[in-house]
Amino acid sequence: MRRNLLIVYHSQSGRTETMARSVRDGASDPLVEHVELRMLRAAAAGPDDLLWAHGLLIGTPENFGYMSGMMKDFLERVFYDCEGKIEGRPWALFVSAGQDGSGAITSVERIVTGLRLRKVREPILALREVTPEILAQCEELGATLAVGIAAGAL
Ligand SMILES: Cc1cc2nc3c(=O)[nH]c(=O)nc-3n(C[C@H](O)[C@H](O)[C@H](O)COP(=O)(O)O)c2cc1C
Repeated sequence: MRRNLLIVYHSQSGRTETMARSVRDGASDPLVEHVELRMLRAAAAGPDDLLWAHGLLIGTPENFGYMSGMMKDFLERVFYDCEGKIEGRPWALFVSAGQDGSGAITSVERIVTGLRLRKVREPILALREVTPEILAQCEELGATLAVGIAAGAL
């Protein structure tokens, strides 16, 4: 059975986008079969994308101690259309921050918990630089979600 994976992210200066690309690379590994990928900027994504997805990966910078405004806008736009319809689906988070990141993590987690998605991995947090180690973790994250939903194991 085909499964759908949504990567939704926001990035102002490019770091979170670099992470999102690695997540996508991991999820589109040729060994991963039967998974359709959609990678969208938060501003371009909406409730139909989230309802379509069997798994969700969210990427955001931390801005002013919170998720980015565009990610909050996305979650506000999808919340009531998706509430009660996507419960139990697996999700995970990646964050880029200058020196903290905890506000972005807790703010996304609080809202996504309200949608009753199931966190399947601890967030990846890139502080300042997006290092090759972080990008390797992002790739692994993408592959884990894709393999997991394809196998029905997540
Ligand atoms: C308006 C603004 C507010 C920010 N606020 C925070 C913050 O509260 N905590 C933090 O650790 N970094 C903060 N940063 C730094 C960004 O999180 C960091 O530069 C991040 O890597 C940017 O990701 P991007 O390149 O995907 O846009 C802020 C940056 C901007 C532009």
